[in-house]
Formats: sequence, C-alpha cells, structure tokens
Amino acid sequence: MVLHWLVATLHLLALPLGLGSVVVRGRAFAGPLDSRGLRTLFAADALWGLSALLWISTGVWRAFFGLEKGTPYYVESNAFWAKMTLLLLVLALEIAPMITLIRWRVLTRRGETPDTGRAATYARLSTVQSGLVVLMVFAATAMARGWFH
Ligand code: HEM
Repeated sequence: MVLHWLVATLHLLALPLGLGSVVVRGRAFAGPLDSRGLRTLFAADALWGLSALLWISTGVWRAFFGLEKGTPYYVESNAFWAKMTLLLLVLALEIAPMITLIRWRVLTRRGETPDTGRAATYARLSTVQSGLVVLMVFAATAMARGWFH
C-alpha cells in the first residue's frame, strides 16, 4: 500500500519536473547560447532525461507489476495505447537533440565552441515535445478512469 502510494507520487512528480525542464530547454535552445546559456541548456536537458527515467520506470512498474489495476486492464485500454504512441513520438523527437547535446557537451568540456546553427530547430522540437506531454496527461487521466476501453 505504501509502495503503491510512493510510486504513484513519483510518477506524478515527474510531470512538473519533465514539463518544466523541457520548456526551459526549449527556451535555452532559442538562445543566446553563450557559456551561461549552454550551462542552462545542459542542466535543463539533464533534468529532462531524469524525468524520462522516472516516468518510464514508475509507469512500467505501475502498469505491469501489480501496483494498480493489473496488466490486462492497461493492454486492453485504447487510452493506454494512445499514451504509449505519444511517448514513442516524444522519444523519436528526442534522438536528434540527444545526439547533438552529447556532442556539444564533449566540445564544451574540451574548451571548444559547438556549432549551434540548428539550435532553433531543436527549440521548436522541445516545444512540440512539451505539447505531446500535455496530451499524454489527457490520455493518462482517461486511462485511469476506464475511458476509451
Ligand atoms: C511522459 C510520460 C508520462 C506522463 C506524462 C504520464 C502521466 C500520468 C498521469 C498524469 C497519471 C495520473 C492519472 C490519474 O490518476 O488520473 C498517470 C498514471 C499512470 N501512468 Fe503514466 N505517464 C507517463 C508515462 C507512463 C508510462 C511509460 C507508463 C507505463 C508503461 C505509465 C503508466 C501509468 C499507470 C499504470 C498509471 C496509473 C493509472 C491508474 O490509476 O489506473 N505512465 N500517468
């Protein structure tokens, strides 16, 4: 019972953390990308990554390891699959910025200046990702209530 409550709390706390960090990351991508801007960008990106881990680990735990309504409830729910499709979109949109930010971190650590020419595109991608996360909340609350089953 206590575990159920704690895991549900961590799952919900990932929402302000994840949404906040992806919005801040989008703004940081929009610049200016001086050394301070890059520090903000890297910090927001690290928090965004942490929230993804928190979301997925607690979500999988809740759905498939007996903490909530049981696996059959979720696999039969259209709202659950809508939520997972949205999650896949968020993850697919993450591939390019993730690879780029790994490169930028390495270059910055070496004291070099990364080429930030595509940063405006990544700013837009982060905005799209924050919109998809909001849609996931609509799908999650429908799923929890047994809608679109
Ligand atoms: C960006 C990622 C995610 C977001 C924004 C999100 C959001 C939410 C929210 C807001 C709730 C609360 C719904 C309510 O009580 O009305 C919830 C519940 C839940 N989520 Fe997630 N979630 C995410 C990822 C995942 C993943 C990856 C899984 C599983 C594979 C998952 C499984 C669940 C389960 C099982 C519940 C409990 C539903 C119930 O009470 O029956 N979530 N989620």
